Amino acid sequence: MMGRLVEVDDIHVRYGDLVALRGVSLAVEEGEVVCIIGPNGAGKSTTLAAIAGGVTPEAGAIRIDGRSILGQRPEQIARLGLSLVPEGRHIFGTLTVDENLRIGGYIQRDRTAAKADLERLLELFPRLAERLHYPAGRLSGGEQQMLAVARAVMTRPRLLLVDEPSLGLAPKIIDQIYEILLDLRQRAKLTLLINEQSSNRILKHADRIYVLRGGSMQLEGRAADLQDGEAIRHAYFGFGNGHSARKETHA
Ligand SMILES: Nc1ncnc2c1ncn2[C@@H]1O[C@H](COP(=O)(O)OP(=O)(O)O)[C@@H](O)[C@H]1O
Ligand SMILES: [Mg+2]
Repeated sequence: MMGRLVEVDDIHVRYGDLVALRGVSLAVEEGEVVCIIGPNGAGKSTTLAAIAGGVTPEAGAIRIDGRSILGQRPEQIARLGLSLVPEGRHIFGTLTVDENLRIGGYIQRDRTAAKADLERLLELFPRLAERLHYPAGRLSGGEQQMLAVARAVMTRPRLLLVDEPSLGLAPKIIDQIYEILLDLRQRAKLTLLINEQSSNRILKHADRIYVLRGGSMQLEGRAADLQDGEAIRHAYFGFGNGHSARKETHA
């Protein structure tokens, strides 16, 4: 059954004196691929952290399946079926691929279920299956990103929050990562909320786009309606800020 999986309603988050989110709202329906686009410092990671329970908004509401999760701990929220792929991947370089994946399954209480999850997972990630006993630090950047995604889906989440999967990867590799994410959506019935700094390669993969800047949502729309990029560029850079040369390369 389709329904609203995540609802973020006018949240405000601050780190001490710094206001990171000043009234952010968004919604993700079950089965959607939604992307938050915004420049460095816009508040993208903070938004995902708020949903995953890593930071607590001082105002506003966050609901999963219509029920408030405000004040719940990250482990409690994870049990509702959320999993976060953090920015920078957080791979343990000296541990093997296999060991990194088993760490991802740590909240899985049942060892038999964890083993079955690992086997199912390796069918989705043949590249990782081939490199199971390599130290993760020897994988390429793209493979490490695959490992971070694989680790996050070990616990069979319904919603995957992915923070800048494209960071530092070549365009061809970025497309491969997105192929895997979209494959997971089909095969593991995943809903995806993804942060990116650039809409360049994302517009063709996402169903809907939000543009975040300065801790405020600037734009929301269906990717199909935003293909020419113009509305996104305006939202991303603001109107009349004189950065026309940068507009073409970054948004
Ligand atoms: N742990 C933190 N302590 C203090 N300030 C932070 C912290 N994390 C993020 N910020 C600040 O909050 C703002 C939003 O950051 P972030 O959510 O990381 O943006 P983005 O992911 O879009 O780059 C930035 O100004 C950033 O410097
Ligand atoms: Mg970030």
